[in-house]
Amino acid sequence: MTERTLAIIKPDAVRNNVCGEILAKITQAGFKVLGTKMMRISPAQAGEFYAVHKERPFYGELVNFMSSGAIMPIALEKENAVADFRTLIGSTDPAEAAEGTIRKAFATSKGENAIHGSDSAENGRNEIAFFFAESELVANRA
Ligand code: CMP
Repeated sequence: MTERTLAIIKPDAVRNNVCGEILAKITQAGFKVLGTKMMRISPAQAGEFYAVHKERPFYGELVNFMSSGAIMPIALEKENAVADFRTLIGSTDPAEAAEGTIRKAFATSKGENAIHGSDSAENGRNEIAFFFAESELVANRA
């Protein structure tokens, strides 16, 4: 089934100038880019995006990091997009990420791990809506 998922190239990867390399891996894996932008979010916006992790000990660190510099959200579409994208990015902890995954190549720690991927189809839709108006997604334009 065709699904949508949200990727975010995180501030560490933007600072390291690897957005192009990451985007190439994503498109080579068969994902269609519906929309992307370079932007910076406030701590309040980062806190809202990661609200599900509010009670976790790393929440403050996560919010600070995600608002520390530019990010690149990318709305993606593919058959089985959510699971396939999580396979492509690898484990949260780069020390456990498989060879060939984006986090193996570009992440440095559990916190600064280069890229985000939605964890369910429902979250994929909601997370895309957090960053993009429907009119900004190419599939919805004439
Ligand atoms: P992400 O896929 O963006 O979703 C939640 C994020 O929380 C996760 O990637 C990590 O970057 C971050 N995270 C998870 N565990 C830890 C941890 N132990 N310390 C710091 N950040 C973490």
